[in-house]
Amino acid sequence: MTHPSLVRPVRPPAATNLSVGTLLEISQALSSAGSLNAGLNRVLGILGESGGSVRSTVALIDPSSGQLYIEASAGISPDGRRARYRLGEGITGRVVEHGKPIVVPQVSREPLFLFRAAPRRELPGQELTFVCVPIAIGSHTIGALSADLLYDPGRDYDATTLFLSVVATQLAQALKIQRLLDTERARLVEENEHLRHELQAKFSFEHIIGSGGAMRGVCEQIAQVATTNTTVLVRGESGTGKELIAHALHYNSPRAKAPFVRVSCGALPDTLIESELFGHERGAFTGAHARKKGRFELADGGTLFLDEVGELNPTTQVKLLRVLQAREFERVGGTETLRANVRLVAATNKDLERAITAGTFREDLYYRLNVFTIFVPPLRERKPDVLLLADHFVEKYAREHGKSIRRISTPCIDMLMSYHWPGNVRELENTIERAVVVCDGSVIHAHHLPPTLQTAEATGTGSARSLQAALAAYERDLILDALKTARGNRAKAARLLESTERIVRYKIRKHGIDPARFRA
Ligand SMILES: Nc1ncnc2c1ncn2[C@@H]1O[C@H](COP(=O)(O)OP(=O)(O)O)[C@@H](O)[C@H]1O
Ligand SMILES: [Mg+2]
Repeated sequence: MTHPSLVRPVRPPAATNLSVGTLLEISQALSSAGSLNAGLNRVLGILGESGGSVRSTVALIDPSSGQLYIEASAGISPDGRRARYRLGEGITGRVVEHGKPIVVPQVSREPLFLFRAAPRRELPGQELTFVCVPIAIGSHTIGALSADLLYDPGRDYDATTLFLSVVATQLAQALKIQRLLDTERARLVEENEHLRHELQAKFSFEHIIGSGGAMRGVCEQIAQVATTNTTVLVRGESGTGKELIAHALHYNSPRAKAPFVRVSCGALPDTLIESELFGHERGAFTGAHARKKGRFELADGGTLFLDEVGELNPTTQVKLLRVLQAREFERVGGTETLRANVRLVAATNKDLERAITAGTFREDLYYRLNVFTIFVPPLRERKPDVLLLADHFVEKYAREHGKSIRRISTPCIDMLMSYHWPGNVRELENTIERAVVVCDGSVIHAHHLPPTLQTAEATGTGSARSLQAALAAYERDLILDALKTARGNRAKAARLLESTERIVRYKIRKHGIDPARFRA
């Protein structure tokens, strides 16, 4: 490569304003600019005003084309700003390719000079000096900073190059931060999108398990009302899936992309629930150091889920009623009236009618909430769902805990089916997760269930039983299971149990099992 000759000055540097003061100005401009591009343009402006450059550019590599484009410039015409260079092309292209500064003391004498950004005809009558330094992040050159200075035979080119290199380092730092932010933002946007899809999938109808008429009815109701703005009241015992339904309503509505915000009305003390719902102004009460948005504001455009709505205190009931009537509210301690654009879903396991009679729940609020009511039946009234749900949770928790569990043994299923499930689906889910955790094989057996379930089946009364009875039940369970796998073949069952056929025959008789049941 033919490097342009560097003319070493013999006399002291000519008056130049490429000073530390200019550097300070530049770093301040970069840190205070509203955007990176504004910062870069401002820096080039300073190079012109304080540094005496006639023209300057920041050229960067465009990752998609690999070509250099002009990101920021001063003293360049709009046409010139559209200039593109390939790596290695012209002076700028070479600086980026080799990562080394190049100085052209007299532009008019340099055959490599392309005059692409600044055509010869746009140049002033005087001779110019062109200085171009690489912009690098670490050892990686990402672009170049160039400046045209009036030719001065007394100029200290080393000092000039050094000065511009310091500026380029500052630019590189700003570019690096910007790129990190861009990458991070892109990652967050992607992650957000991914999570939204996941939520949507998670709360789609397929994930509401239930085969019986009861759950089918519930799903039909969800489908009917999800796409509307109607207030929905979900009623049912604790653990029946009310929150799951509230999610399904939201994620199958036109509001799915806006927030789903849950308020647990029973969990917050009376003094906090109002500011939690409506927000508060600074200084509204002791401890209110800053204005805080309430859940109504946070759910703007989306769905507000009032869980355990039956627990609301009378004062808050009045305020909530007002929001439901006027669709307006104020922050605690505030005067500004805010509009509530939320879809309301409420849930309760309380007997609201009785609460009205007892005077603890307002009748007018009840009518506002009771527009479209979905009743979720308790699990004991939908026995066929027990099996479906159990299988669903086995699969879910086996995956989560990294186990390969194929099925639930028949005696274990019998136990699950005969239990009355006071804690509903939540209790079943916890029971299965526990069983998956303690299970060491590929089949969940009765002894993997908590004692409450095992005893409930053995005695039918739920009382405790003896060790002997428990062992007998476990033995029976193992034999039934082996027979099932062996399709009623006793010899094979014995091998599975690592026992002898004679013992297995004896046990089969003892437990009154009919192996023929298992022949396929
Ligand atoms: N039909 C269903 N299909 C799948 N999972 C369910 C079903 N019903 C409830 N669950 C699960 O049971 C647990 C309790 O449900 P949740 O909605 O919190 O009940 P609730 O709000 O009525 O107390 C949750 O983990 C939920 O995902
Ligand atoms: Mg709940």
